[in-house]
Amino acid sequence: MIDLIKAKNVFKNYTSQFKPKDNKIESKIKHTYGVVNVSKYIAEKLGLSQEDVELAQLIALLHDIGRFEQAMTYDTYDDYSSVDHAELGIKILFKDGLIRKFIEIDEYDDIIKIAIKNHNKFEIEQGLSKSELLHSKIIRDADKADNYNIKQKQDFHSLFNSTIEKVEKEKISPEIWSEFLQEKTIVTSHRKTNMDKWLSYIAWVFDFNFYETLKFIQENDCINTIIDRLNYKDSDTKNKMEIAKKIANQYIKDRIKKGC
Ligand SMILES: [Fe+2]
Repeated sequence: MIDLIKAKNVFKNYTSQFKPKDNKIESKIKHTYGVVNVSKYIAEKLGLSQEDVELAQLIALLHDIGRFEQAMTYDTYDDYSSVDHAELGIKILFKDGLIRKFIEIDEYDDIIKIAIKNHNKFEIEQGLSKSELLHSKIIRDADKADNYNIKQKQDFHSLFNSTIEKVEKEKISPEIWSEFLQEKTIVTSHRKTNMDKWLSYIAWVFDFNFYETLKFIQENDCINTIIDRLNYKDSDTKNKMEIAKKIANQYIKDRIKKGC
C-alpha cells in the first residue's frame, strides 16, 4: 500500500532539518510538490491504475530528495561541481534506509530507484521493464513541466550567476545553437554561457514523452513566456531566440497533431 498522506508528512519532517525557510531549500520543496501534482495529472490523463497514479506521485515526492543534502553540503545545485543529486537521493533512500519511512513494503523499490536514477540523465537507460520505463518517463516529463512553470517566474538572481543586464548582452555558443537546430536536448556540460543555459531550457521540449505534457506546455504558453522574459541586447542572440521560439512551438504543435 502507498500512503501518500503519510509519505508527505515524512517528507515534511525530513526537509524540516534543512532550513525550510531558506530560499534555496524552500524552492526545492515547492518544486517537489509541483512535480507531485503534474505527475498525478499525467498519470490520470494516461488512464493508469490507482496504484500507478499513487506510485507516480510517490516517485515525484522522492525524486529530488538528494537536493537538500546537496545544498547543505555543497551550497549549490550544480551537479557537475558537486554530486549527482539523483545518485545521492538513491543513497539516502536505499543505502541509509530512509525509503522505509516513506513506504513500508519493498515491492516498488526497484521502480522508484530506476525512476529517480533516470530523472536527471541525458536520456533514459536501455533495458528497463515496462513499469520502470513508464515511471521514468512520467517523472522526466513532470520534472521538466514544473521547471517550465518555475522558469516563467523564478528571480534571475537564483537563475544565473550574473546580473540580468550582463546576461542580456550574452551570446549563444555556436555548438549549442547547432545542437538546438537538430531538435535535441542540450548536454549540460556543453553549455558555456548563461544564454546557453537559457536556450537549453527551451530545448527540453524535445525530450517530452507524453501528449498530455506537451498540451500542458502549449496551453500554458511556456515557451513564449520564458523566451520573452529577457530583453536580448545582442542582435544575433535576439534573432536566434526568435527562431528558437518558432522551432519549439512548431515542434510542440506537430507532436500534438501526431498524437505525440
Ligand atoms: Fe526535480
